Amino acid sequence: MLPKRFLSLTGLMLVPLYSWGFSYEAPSVTPEVGSGFEEKPGWAASSFAVAAANPLATDAGYQVLKAGGNAIDAAVAVQMVLTLVEPQSSGIGGGAFLMHYDGTDVQAYDGRETAPQAASGELFIENGEPLAFMDAVASGLSVGVPGTLRMLEMVHAEHGQLPWKDLFTPAITLAEQGFSVSQRLHTSLASETALREDELASVFYYDAEGEPLEVGATLKNPALAAILQRIADEGSIALYEGDIAQNFVDRVQSHPVRPGELSLNDLSDYEALEREPLCTPWQQWEVCGFPPPSSGHLTVMQILGILDQQPLLEAPLDNGVTSSGWLHQFLEASRLAFADRGRYIGDPDFVEAPGGDWQLMLAPDYLASRSALIGEESMGSGAKPGNPGELSVSFASQPEQPEYGTSHISIVDADGNAIAMTTTIEQAFGSRMLADGGTGLAGGYLLNNELTDFSFVPEIDGELVANRVEPGKRPRSSMSPTLVFDQESGELVASLGSPGGAAIIHYTARTLQAMRDWGLDAQEALNLPHAITLGGDVFVEEGRFPDDIIEALRERGHTVSERELTSGLQTIMRLEDGSLFGGADPRREGVVMGD
Ligand code: GLY
Repeated sequence: MLPKRFLSLTGLMLVPLYSWGFSYEAPSVTPEVGSGFEEKPGWAASSFAVAAANPLATDAGYQVLKAGGNAIDAAVAVQMVLTLVEPQSSGIGGGAFLMHYDGTDVQAYDGRETAPQAASGELFIENGEPLAFMDAVASGLSVGVPGTLRMLEMVHAEHGQLPWKDLFTPAITLAEQGFSVSQRLHTSLASETALREDELASVFYYDAEGEPLEVGATLKNPALAAILQRIADEGSIALYEGDIAQNFVDRVQSHPVRPGELSLNDLSDYEALEREPLCTPWQQWEVCGFPPPSSGHLTVMQILGILDQQPLLEAPLDNGVTSSGWLHQFLEASRLAFADRGRYIGDPDFVEAPGGDWQLMLAPDYLASRSALIGEESMGSGAKPGNPGELSVSFASQPEQPEYGTSHISIVDADGNAIAMTTTIEQAFGSRMLADGGTGLAGGYLLNNELTDFSFVPEIDGELVANRVEPGKRPRSSMSPTLVFDQESGELVASLGSPGGAAIIHYTARTLQAMRDWGLDAQEALNLPHAITLGGDVFVEEGRFPDDIIEALRERGHTVSERELTSGLQTIMRLEDGSLFGGADPRREGVVMGD
């Protein structure tokens, strides 16, 4: 069933295409512009559905699926449109993780950025001290070798159905014709300072008085259109070698304050990887997620595994809000899981797993021993890492650093293939450098700041940090693209994930719990208010918890304050009758479309 709001789209312009099967129609109006917290209905579909963070991106994926493309084809089209319309969150200048279900098996594709060969553990140390976080972000130092495009090319070569070239038409068309600036892009530009310092971004996204593009303004991006046309014609090599690559390197190496050392060889040598997915039994479900270098699946499943060993609460929900009893268990489980994450998790090509196997961190006996540490009173900032398995070197615990940005895409196609892809340039607007590919045209794409996901210090008290910078290494991530299956039938149950930095982990864990145990549908589960801790203070979503719940947490010893917690969850669930139901986060402007 096509959601009503999309049926009302009229005056579509038909754009003729070169190859069979797929002709893109650029919407003459933006399907929906979101702002702030906006109630969403949830969307039903009978056989296929796509959920993404911007309506134009969702629509591109929908049109690909409608034309007979599969989940991978749609993911390529969605990502290219996101590069244009949600440039603050993800794009060809960044990295991504993609979980794929081909109807039989699950695959995990790694397009995470890598540190340049010239990088060392001292990358973010200046005059003997770690840089201030934002000084490191808005610099050439933070830019990693991007992986999203190479990864999509690899996955498309293995699983794609429609021609690669056609999948770029939606983004190229919108970049040439212009698209309507959304509320979220406008708000993100308005709240930004460092982006205004960039010579290209300052004139592309702001007027002469420094005012950001208005909501509804038509924005064309001829530089990106030209770059995407080259990639459509030549493949990812157009970004990784030659003049567009040279421009990427020039931008990084000529940063006016802190240039980076990323080189042409770093770009041309980049390889996307296929990794072994982590699939974890969780009562009647099997939850499949991304292994290290993401900490996402391990930390999500530690939290849920610890919770499963806690006394069952009679009322985990209290008038539609998670009760203080459940929140206490959840926050304490988070403290323990984040303590393990900070000690152990890093790029597996550089860091050994405890006991040689990451699954030991999820062993039921180990999680039972962790769960036993939870009492009536909060452990506050006192959670220590456990000992899931022996290591040949002992690591120091990495203190938590800020992480932001990111976008999530979930797709189920008519043949039952599914993807969950979380994609990022790290912070909003990444390293605050726009690259025009050397075209000399207006616009372009943003370069990531993913290397600030590494620890800023290589060692603490003489012990190395697992997630320190090393040449060619991938920074630890929190991204948690997740595919859920029914253990008995093996059928797909759900695809989900979220942006939100380290809080991705809490958003994903709580959504899974709400869907499995509290009978909430894909939309209701996303709507619930958030509460998080990275091991110290507790943050609860501003204005969404009654005072008595906050007070009850304080009485147990949690230090609690309110703040915006802007998840961007996207979920598609398969219902018992085989149909689909999708939800998009009310805190951002995403939508679901399907038939
Ligand atoms: N930069 C967000 C993440 O990888 O978790």
